[in-house]
Amino acid sequence: MKEFNQQITEQLNSVQETGRQLEFIEKAKGYVKKLEEQLGHKPTCCVTTFGCQMNARDSEKLSGILEKAGYELIEDEDADFVIYNTCTVRDNANQRVYGRLGHLNSLKKKKPHKKIALCGCMMQEPSVIEKIRQSYRFVDLIFGTHNIYKFAELLVNMFEADGMVIDIWKDTDQIVEDLPVERKYPFKSGINIMFGCNNFCSYCIVPYVRGRERSRNPKDIIREIEALVADGVVEVMLLGQNVNSYGKNLEQPITFAQLLKEIEKIDGLQRIRFMTSHPKDLSDELIQVMKESTKICRHLHLPLQSGSTRILNAMNRRYTKEQYLALAEKIRKEIPDISITTDIIVGFPGEEPSDVDETIDVIRRVQYDNAFTFIYSKRTGTPAAAMENQVPEDIVKEGFDRLLKVVQDTARERISRLQGQTMEALVEEANEQEEGLLTGRLSNNTIVHFKGDTSLIGQIVPIYLKECHGFYYLGELKR
Ligand code: SAH
Ligand code: SF4
Ligand code: F3S
Repeated sequence: MKEFNQQITEQLNSVQETGRQLEFIEKAKGYVKKLEEQLGHKPTCCVTTFGCQMNARDSEKLSGILEKAGYELIEDEDADFVIYNTCTVRDNANQRVYGRLGHLNSLKKKKPHKKIALCGCMMQEPSVIEKIRQSYRFVDLIFGTHNIYKFAELLVNMFEADGMVIDIWKDTDQIVEDLPVERKYPFKSGINIMFGCNNFCSYCIVPYVRGRERSRNPKDIIREIEALVADGVVEVMLLGQNVNSYGKNLEQPITFAQLLKEIEKIDGLQRIRFMTSHPKDLSDELIQVMKESTKICRHLHLPLQSGSTRILNAMNRRYTKEQYLALAEKIRKEIPDISITTDIIVGFPGEEPSDVDETIDVIRRVQYDNAFTFIYSKRTGTPAAAMENQVPEDIVKEGFDRLLKVVQDTARERISRLQGQTMEALVEEANEQEEGLLTGRLSNNTIVHFKGDTSLIGQIVPIYLKECHGFYYLGELKR
């Protein structure tokens, strides 16, 4: 009974909070209207995303609120309001933000009414806030990952304040539903099914900046997808740092595989994708559900990180090389046409060339369709940052180049296996490089370019895969 009551209270809180934020949108509208009168045109805003798909989805939420408040969304940082949604997973993401802030400042000097906001993962680090406070005084608003649902309220605070507004929370258990969202693509959408991460891989900062794992209620997820489908969406990407542990902490626990089965039933939805899967939690039940599904795409992103059991252990990944290989083999046996992609880190503390050899061995055996390879980046506050055996840069570079070559060779060969087949592609956009060409995505995530009319964008069409060009295909529309 207590749990039931707690659930009701949480839902009430969430509904009340949504109502409060909608009121703040109305209030923000007043300020934007005033600015419009002052400028003589509708104020413009630009949302720039650094980082992963979860950040991209957050940016769609920010855009939804900005649009409702009366801004015109543009992709030009000379806009009247610019917001950077930042990432801190590797140091180069942070450096890019600092670099571009200098440019924003020079734009603001020419346009004094310009407002600049920073949010996202990087803002959850106290040292970053200190640096911005001291050296980037021209920033108007800073908030973090846990209070993004309060964006309308923070906008109002920004309009009413004299100086910089900073609001960062350490953590939250609040999940607020039903605020406006402005999607980048009309026909496909990301959906958060969970927030945060509990895994604490020893190199990774995400659990510190995104907080503990929280799953959304399955009912809210289904309701959101149904509304998206009614609005023209045919493909969804379910998002979470570790979707395989979805539902474990809900009052009525449900597995990720069970959630997928429910989503599959939604009429009109044609494709289901998800990321990311942690190998340690990938269940036989999930493999069976994928195998039997007609909507779940034939693609699995299964981060390896390292092929050396010794390094995996130090990374706190909680699987061995052999366990990973056995899992990949089981998946291939059950779903032979599946594409597997991965993430790999080179240069983790203590890594030796022989460890890189182990990783290369896994790449050769699993035959990935693609692998995102990253050079290890030391993140302050993570256990790996305090390890003494950091690898010298030149050794890391040597291992990275060696590994990348194998990744490219195996991926090329693997992707070319489809040549001559006809497969369905979701047409996503007009090709930017060549006029008259469209770009589509196969169920297994491979990209294909082909001639066609832009009216096909958003449709799933059969494409003859004529020529493989490394990582993509040139194809022909089949009628
Ligand atoms: N939750 C996802 C990954 C999120 S971060 C998962 O566990 O798979 C995306 C990728 O960034 C990771 O898979 C990892 O390969 C890489 N990454 C994370 N921290 C890193 C670091 N400190 N240095 C280099 N790469 C890192
Ligand atoms: Fe980071 Fe590991 Fe969590 Fe992925 S599972 S976000 S790599 S801690
Ligand atoms: Fe970056 Fe945050 Fe995603 S650190 S990778 S934007 S969860």
